[in-house]
Amino acid sequence: MKIYVDSADISEIESALALGLCDGVTTNPTLIAKTGKSMEQAIKDICSIVDGPVHAEVLSLDEEGIFKEGLELSRISDNIVVKIPMCHDGLKATKRFSEEGIDTNVTLIFSASQAILAAKAGASNVCPFVGRLDDISVTGTDLIDEIVSIFDNYPEIDTKIIVASVRSPMHVIDSALIGADIFTIPGKVLTQMEKHPLTDAGIAKFLEDAKKFT
Ligand code: E4P
Repeated sequence: MKIYVDSADISEIESALALGLCDGVTTNPTLIAKTGKSMEQAIKDICSIVDGPVHAEVLSLDEEGIFKEGLELSRISDNIVVKIPMCHDGLKATKRFSEEGIDTNVTLIFSASQAILAAKAGASNVCPFVGRLDDISVTGTDLIDEIVSIFDNYPEIDTKIIVASVRSPMHVIDSALIGADIFTIPGKVLTQMEKHPLTDAGIAKFLEDAKKFT
């Protein structure tokens, strides 16, 4: 199991690193915009503290643009994974990156058919978004179940499944029970995963009782 931090916030990433909870980082344009930095600077800053894969997303939607932008991103650091929105030209660019030996993440996956196409195009990773499916009253983790089952049926597929748009610890638990490869988790959800009210109550009671020691 690998846990990535879904963030471009350096302090959030550092907190996860300190707990051994940062096998990699995923970013997207929304997360980069929150930092107030340029894409290049934000990605450089993350790569300066993270040894694992750092996923950086292209903005272009045409094959040549995606390929050019992806190459520029991949030159920032050896651990860059080029994140490509799921689209027709994105699949063509994914195939080219695969031939060049550059790792990719086909993102914004909302159906098993999209995941199959991305895998066949040579994507190193697919990124199904569970939270955004839940938002439209579709059970996001059912998609994880489908993709895991399909990929398991074909051992030649080595595309990893990154569970994205994680909004709660239940998304992680359900996807882990299914057997997803990687979870990309925002700092807030990592903190929620630590907590249980019975743990807090148990600690409080032990400390209270410790005052009675002779
Ligand atoms: C990660 O790679 C995705 O971009 C991210 O998990 C999306 O999360 P959101 O749906 O909460 O914006």
